[in-house]
Amino acid sequence: MSKFNIIGGTPLQGEISVSGNKNAALPIIAATVLTDEDCILHNIPQILDVKAMFAILEDLGKTVTFEGNTVKISGAVTHSSPAQYLVSRLRASILYLGALLGRCREAEIAPPGGCVIGKRGIDIHSDAFLGMSAELDFSSNSYKAKLTHEKDSYLFLQEASVTATENAMLLAATVPHQTIIDNAACEPHVSDLANVLVKMGATIEGIGSNRLIIKGVKKLRGVEHSIVADNIEAGTFMIAALCTQGDIIIKNIVKEHLITPTFYMNLMGANPEFIDDNTVRVRYEKPLTAPSRKVQVGLWPGFPTDLMSPMVVLTTQAEGNTLCHDWMFESRMFFCDKLVGMGANITICDPHRVIVNGITQLKAQHLSSPDLRAGIALVIAAMMADGHSVIDNASLIDRGYENIDTRLQSLGANIKREG
Ligand code: EPZ
Repeated sequence: MSKFNIIGGTPLQGEISVSGNKNAALPIIAATVLTDEDCILHNIPQILDVKAMFAILEDLGKTVTFEGNTVKISGAVTHSSPAQYLVSRLRASILYLGALLGRCREAEIAPPGGCVIGKRGIDIHSDAFLGMSAELDFSSNSYKAKLTHEKDSYLFLQEASVTATENAMLLAATVPHQTIIDNAACEPHVSDLANVLVKMGATIEGIGSNRLIIKGVKKLRGVEHSIVADNIEAGTFMIAALCTQGDIIIKNIVKEHLITPTFYMNLMGANPEFIDDNTVRVRYEKPLTAPSRKVQVGLWPGFPTDLMSPMVVLTTQAEGNTLCHDWMFESRMFFCDKLVGMGANITICDPHRVIVNGITQLKAQHLSSPDLRAGIALVIAAMMADGHSVIDNASLIDRGYENIDTRLQSLGANIKREG
């Protein structure tokens, strides 16, 4: 089992580039099922979740060729029921249901896996498929779906679910009728998938909004696309710079995707400096103060839930009380007890809310990463703590951050991978 050894106390310095967006790469990889023509994807992050999605694609009969962060996908799928052990490795494998239904008009997949941050049902997904008149047979160990006729459809998603929106888009792109998706999710990764489906031949109005109007085509063509930058990774590096009292330049970002995290950093007295639309400098200049309002997650463009764990760590270094509220996932805050073990002053009010009282000096600890985002938050905490920390379960962090140890080393961090 891989673990990180971290000696804290070194301010991060230097330049770093942001990788491709994990949550854009995953649905876009699934979208390549929709065509038999070659697809070339650039800026693909080399992370475990991406590898897991490609393993399913190969199991479905596609040929996948890697060249650094560029991947060529060719051939046609040969069946529509991927191996259960591959599907159960990650949550995003649910996206093959929409893609295979789109390409083969039938699909059978096992229930997806995914991290422990909260119960995530599939009811919004089934609502969408039923709204497009698919026949579903969902049981505890398999999801079967069939599309026997095509028609115009109007879908209202009861929750603006990211992957449910993407599943509906993947199917709608292959239906030569109009599909309206209302209360759609509109995160940058959802829009990146939409851009790919348009390049493949579908017509989509309302990209970036909560209402998507999709006109599909029977036969989608191949595509060449560069995955948009990862706003969560960019936000994570901004927070790491402030927590370690460092000074870093982060490249290949998208400025407009960082508005909300920057808003809260400004409230805390930090001044991220956007050198241009793709570069931001984050420099610790003076002690931070608690933001004058709660930090609460929201649907896009609200504060992203996947940045909440690192944000909690940042608020331990802000003078005063901060209420951090993640209403989306009931287990997101559980990792806070590990920060308390490091010396943070955090009151866990309920599964969704914590009150953080700063500024506290953190002490090194032997920790274990409970999930992807809490894992990176503990890495940041260890980089600013006094002494030598050990973080077990590093592979959970590798699910979403490419070569995180060597990239942090390039910024001066004293981090070493073991195992
Ligand atoms: C996607 O998961 C992401 N995963 C998650 O990122 C991310 O945390 C999540 O969206 C939210 O942004 C991928 O894209 C592969 P949801 P998904 O259905 O689609 C509740 C990471 O660390 N909710 O959008 O499974 C909902 O019930 C991962 O990269 C509402 O209550 O998530 C669920 O509990 C983890 N009302 C939670 O939020 C709403 O209107 C997330 O829902 C919308 C959602």
